[in-house]
Amino acid sequence: MKILHLYFSTTGNTQKVAAQVDRTLHQLGHEVETVQVAKAAEPDLLAYDLIFMGSGVYSWLPGKPLVELIIKLREKYAGAGEIKPAAPRRPGKKAVIYCTFGGGHTGANEAVPAVKYMGQLFDHLGFEIIAEWYVPGEFLGGNLQYLSTTGRLGNIQGRPNDHDLQEISEKIIGILRV
Ligand SMILES: Cc1cc2nc3c(=O)[nH]c(=O)nc-3n(C[C@H](O)[C@H](O)[C@H](O)COP(=O)(O)O)c2cc1C
Repeated sequence: MKILHLYFSTTGNTQKVAAQVDRTLHQLGHEVETVQVAKAAEPDLLAYDLIFMGSGVYSWLPGKPLVELIIKLREKYAGAGEIKPAAPRRPGKKAVIYCTFGGGHTGANEAVPAVKYMGQLFDHLGFEIIAEWYVPGEFLGGNLQYLSTTGRLGNIQGRPNDHDLQEISEKIIGILRV
């Protein structure tokens, strides 16, 4: 099974989750190609059986470099006739989409657009989205740190924490059973 992992992180929270994804896959005996999107070329998604894509949430969406990559890939695959009317499934192709988010105003509702946006690329290509993960990530840097204790998620200082990361490992173990 060929596995690709694309992620974007500005303040390090998604990076922590990404590292846990990679660690867990390696522990389970899988190879994974991991690409931090800021430095990414355009990977050939269709060459992989399982793809993880993750980002922090910024103004309800994934990070700009990841959005730009998604637009480029969508145009590339549409131009090549790989995005077909009614988006037929590609058997055996699966994706896991995740975000870290602060939810300072409307909780998980403001992270949903980011995860759905990322997922649409894979859904259009016929991948089955087998999981969506929403991991709390404290607000770091800038002038938004007050939202880590005053938002709808309550106190999220220190998140993602060891417990969050352990949950990621458990979920990967479950997914690989499928
Ligand atoms: C400039 C900025 C904008 C953000 N906007 C949102 C947002 O719209 N919704 C949300 O749930 N979290 C928002 N957050 C919180 C981040 O999504 C959260 O801290 C995430 O874990 C950051 O990921 P990263 O550390 O990998 O960059 C924002 C954080 C920053 C710094």
